[in-house]
Amino acid sequence: MPKVFLKLVLIGDVFLFHTIVELEEVDSTNEFALRMNLSDGSVVVAKRQTDGRGRKGRGWISPVGGLYFSLVLHVGTDNNVSPLPLVFGVAIQEALSRYCHGLSLKWPNDILHEGKKVCGILCELNEGLLIAGVGINVNNAIELEGAISMCSICGHVDEHKLLSEILQSIEHFYQEFAQNGFTRIREEWKKRSRMLGKEVVVEGGPIRGKVEDIDERGCLVVVTAEGTKKILAGDVSIRFI
Ligand code: BTN
Repeated sequence: MPKVFLKLVLIGDVFLFHTIVELEEVDSTNEFALRMNLSDGSVVVAKRQTDGRGRKGRGWISPVGGLYFSLVLHVGTDNNVSPLPLVFGVAIQEALSRYCHGLSLKWPNDILHEGKKVCGILCELNEGLLIAGVGINVNNAIELEGAISMCSICGHVDEHKLLSEILQSIEHFYQEFAQNGFTRIREEWKKRSRMLGKEVVVEGGPIRGKVEDIDERGCLVVVTAEGTKKILAGDVSIRFI
């Protein structure tokens, strides 16, 4: 059993994310959020994870110095929430860019610096409950090829301050999404990505072609030799060719 410490914190002017559960160590903040049946707007943050989960069944190595948290959102079953992973990507890229320059989005919501991954987001939706887990390499040493920490790009970053800024940014973009839909955020996503016009392979398809757009549902639009294909953010990975 992981050692668990609970601490409830209220962040001044943030109202969507009203309660933060801080853990010294946990298996996975996503798993913990699921187990604890937390209320809408809760955030679970841990200093380290022993069994962090990534997309496509991969793990997420989570030593002290990184930022690992999960947002709990009761989105219901009627809403069209398929663009939400991209909304979170834009919001987090915005907050991280106050510290580090040159961060871009890779569909659906990886944040990269010169092709190396700084942040990954794992959204798990089950019966109207959305758990959005975010892993950011902040001050942790990295041994993985293809990954980089913010501290190697722009120096030491205060993890608590960063979390607070990210939550405020997500709050801002989430409200924009709730009120006006994906239209404006979709344009923001495109501005912050370097994928448009690039040749890619969609593994699991396999689909090979040029990225033309992101559509109103958050699908990646790829022009292939067989015609235009739309890919929904799911268990696929994209490779540049
Ligand atoms: C990816 O594979 O790119 C997504 C990685 C998501 C990792 C985060 S860390 C906090 C949260 N808890 C987990 O177990 N996974 C997510």
